[in-house]
Amino acid sequence: MVSRVIPVDDFDLVIFGATGDLAHRKILPGLFRRFVAGQIPQTSQIIGAARTDQDDQAFRDQAGKAISEFAGVKKNDPRLAQFLELLGYTPIDAKGEGGWKELKSRMRDGAVHAFYFSVAPSLFGDIAERLAGHGIADEDSRIVVEKPFGRDLESARALNATLAQHFQEQQIYRIDHYLGKETVQNLMAVRFANILFEPLWNAQYVDHIQITVAETVGVAGRGSYYDKSGAIRDMVQNHMMQLLCLIAMEPPYHFDPDAVRDEKLKVIRALEPVAPNDIVRGQYQPDGDEPGYIEDCENPDSRTESYVAMKVRISNWRWQGTPIYLRTGKKLRARTSEIAITFKEPPHSIFDDTGAPKANELVIRLQPNEGMNLKVMIKEPGPGGMRLVQVPLDMSFADALGAEGQDMPDAYERLIMDVIRGNQTLFMRGDEVEAAWAWTDPIINAWEDSKQAPEPYDAGSSGPDEALRLMHRDNRRWREIRS
Ligand code: BG6
Repeated sequence: MVSRVIPVDDFDLVIFGATGDLAHRKILPGLFRRFVAGQIPQTSQIIGAARTDQDDQAFRDQAGKAISEFAGVKKNDPRLAQFLELLGYTPIDAKGEGGWKELKSRMRDGAVHAFYFSVAPSLFGDIAERLAGHGIADEDSRIVVEKPFGRDLESARALNATLAQHFQEQQIYRIDHYLGKETVQNLMAVRFANILFEPLWNAQYVDHIQITVAETVGVAGRGSYYDKSGAIRDMVQNHMMQLLCLIAMEPPYHFDPDAVRDEKLKVIRALEPVAPNDIVRGQYQPDGDEPGYIEDCENPDSRTESYVAMKVRISNWRWQGTPIYLRTGKKLRARTSEIAITFKEPPHSIFDDTGAPKANELVIRLQPNEGMNLKVMIKEPGPGGMRLVQVPLDMSFADALGAEGQDMPDAYERLIMDVIRGNQTLFMRGDEVEAAWAWTDPIINAWEDSKQAPEPYDAGSSGPDEALRLMHRDNRRWREIRS
């Protein structure tokens, strides 16, 4: 299979916060890989902008180190030197006037202009205002903003309003890096490019859906951010909501930004409020010398959840009666993200002596070992009657796609190239983000008003026992968490 790389137009990309962690780990390595793939024109400019007072060369040295560490490339690789020539740097005062004239003088007429706000949301307004005020951004420019996009509906609305003072919605690219993951996009391909699944994709045939995003890492090193956030704000309101939307939405009329986002928005608006007994929160406990959540976040009184499981219902024709169970947590048994669709059992078994058929299950593995697994019933080989056995039709995307499947691009690579192309399909629209907060706010507020403590769970386990009971109550069980 030949990889098709379509070069993007010549661009000037300014990265605010270019000396920060995200730029070092994701943005610069992602751009480097696209450069190596031949997607970035040699004439493009990537301009770092941050408070640190340094020159182009110092930024190139810093970027070179970060790229070799996070893109796994040798420091003396000639392609790295070629890429670093694209980089420049302007020290900037986001809240003052320093550096903006210099930045303007670097921007070229005729190139696509994009501005990546890899900074705290409290600076979004200052930067947007100065970009517009100094005439650096115009009506064709794009801005890219990172999560967290607000911490509740009110703050998200305020952020949207601030950005809207200087930019049109078509210019704003709100990143949810889950949408840039190849396998997350595959959810749409599986659903809408195959006739096989869609007729069964509804409450009549689907018993329930499980969406799991399990991580092995804890929150050490970012405890102060995480403790003000928790799993609902950090994962459910954004990444898991996006997975839920792609799984539950109606087919859009076209794979186009507003067609897709309109359908996602309808799902979010149809979500029912979550009853307090349909949600379980947990905190991981110390494990030998390994600190627990309380030690990692350095807040002995913390009630913030490092794990959450909940039962969600969508009030519409397609999904009435089919619950969707979400769970995500830190310090769990394995790092795995998957979506499992459990179908209903056949209405009548003709094989009554030898056991009823089991329900079919379709599991889409998002990471790692990306692939699909469909459990089907077959006859157990051998004489002695008609015994049934459930077997997997198991496909690993890496095996099925050959060399191309071995090297899946990182989410940021795809998303940044989409910004340059001007394609917003895989970015969140302002109303979508607000609708997601409107649904999560009451869940968060009810918890904050309660006196309940999170359920303890052992590091390396599958989460708190209470979460198991959430399922058992409905005569269902979670899938095992394993990589
Ligand atoms: C981030 C969250 O948005 O997503 C982190 O802030 C989380 O807490 C991360 O670990 C998970 O992303 P991925 O790509 O590793 O699944």
